[in-house]
Amino acid sequence: MKEIRIGILGFGTVGAGVVEGIQKNGALMADRTGIMPIVARIADLDIETDRGITVPDGVLTTDAMSVIADENVDLIVELVGGTTVARTFTLEALKQGKPVITANKALLADHGEEIYKTARENNIGIYYEAAVGGGIPILRSQRAGLIGNQIESIYGILNGTCNYMLTRMEREGLPFDEILADAQALGYAETPPDLDIDGIDTAHKAVVLASMAYGAPVPMDACPTSGIRGLSASEIVNAADLGYCIKLLAIIKDNDGEVELSVEPALVPKEHMIASVSDSFNAVFVKGDIVGDTMYYGRGAGRLPTGSAVIGDIMEAASDKLHDVGTPVSVTMMLQKDALTYCSGDNIIKRCYIRLCLEDKPGSMAQVMTIFGKHNISIASVVQKERHESGSAPVVILTQAAKESDFVAAMTEIQALDVSTSEPIRMRLEDFE
Ligand code: HSE
Repeated sequence: MKEIRIGILGFGTVGAGVVEGIQKNGALMADRTGIMPIVARIADLDIETDRGITVPDGVLTTDAMSVIADENVDLIVELVGGTTVARTFTLEALKQGKPVITANKALLADHGEEIYKTARENNIGIYYEAAVGGGIPILRSQRAGLIGNQIESIYGILNGTCNYMLTRMEREGLPFDEILADAQALGYAETPPDLDIDGIDTAHKAVVLASMAYGAPVPMDACPTSGIRGLSASEIVNAADLGYCIKLLAIIKDNDGEVELSVEPALVPKEHMIASVSDSFNAVFVKGDIVGDTMYYGRGAGRLPTGSAVIGDIMEAASDKLHDVGTPVSVTMMLQKDALTYCSGDNIIKRCYIRLCLEDKPGSMAQVMTIFGKHNISIASVVQKERHESGSAPVVILTQAAKESDFVAAMTEIQALDVSTSEPIRMRLEDFE
């Protein structure tokens, strides 16, 4: 039986989940792989708080660098979070020839290129399954089971907080702020929750998925991002009336060699599988050119689901190290090309949901329709509700597919109309065609 000695940096929620998982199933893992995982050292600034886990004397320390340098530690698990000391620890461990496992999506999104290149230079691995989709083994699926596929598209529900909030807004019609407070109380939300509700947490994960799908580090500014902040319950009701629900989606597509990438709230048909992903669950829908449609579902956050992903990486890193694999696929896949090219307004084609408020008088709708026609936007359906007391009437429009640049131009003109009484709302409608 071989042994792998693990140094964990960060003994918070996930760190404790990793230790608990190894204590519970370490022998099972050893039976399956011939490698016994041993938690040799744990570093955290706080080594007093009871995490409900007992570890042998001498394992805990406040000195992370001593764990990295310890010659009895074979690999490092970075669970510190943030992008400052986590970056320092990760680069230092790689330079010392120790594989690193991380759950840190912000670190990879902001410093991925430097980290993958440092891993390659040192002929060692960085493993990061827990950074995307929590317990769902989506990156391992991409780089193993789907390795023979060109990835045509990926749609991800990657933020449990937003999915939980959207689910409750749809079911219960409760206001945004009340549900956000519940999500925080349940421990789903980041601190601060802006990272969740503004879509940034989803974008961190989307750029990692896109990097792996298309073979180069993807900078955050290549991912236009909007979240669900301020989404009104009336939009959810309007979408439901038309047979759709609203999900915060990461959208990654290959458009003839250019990558289309965004994070945005989108209407999805209620009958599509992704619409049935509710509460704090995550899901990733991947279409490959050989395999066709596939979908992966599970818990995107939490102590044990995220711990499960980290443990999977520990065992893979251990096997790679013991078999002297060198730079593993989790690194080489991210560095196939120097950079990717991205779609812009003219080559992003999509359908949209548009909600306007128009003065209820003859000719209002005609002016709007003239603008859509002028910008090559065809209308799939229009619903005008009874007017408000203010004299304006909400109008809900679903369009056919059109260029993003045409939508931008049309919406600018519509907003400037005298008959337009409030700022229009526009969201993507994704019918997965
Ligand atoms: N705040 C994140 C979520 C946690 O809600 O999904 C996992 O990244």
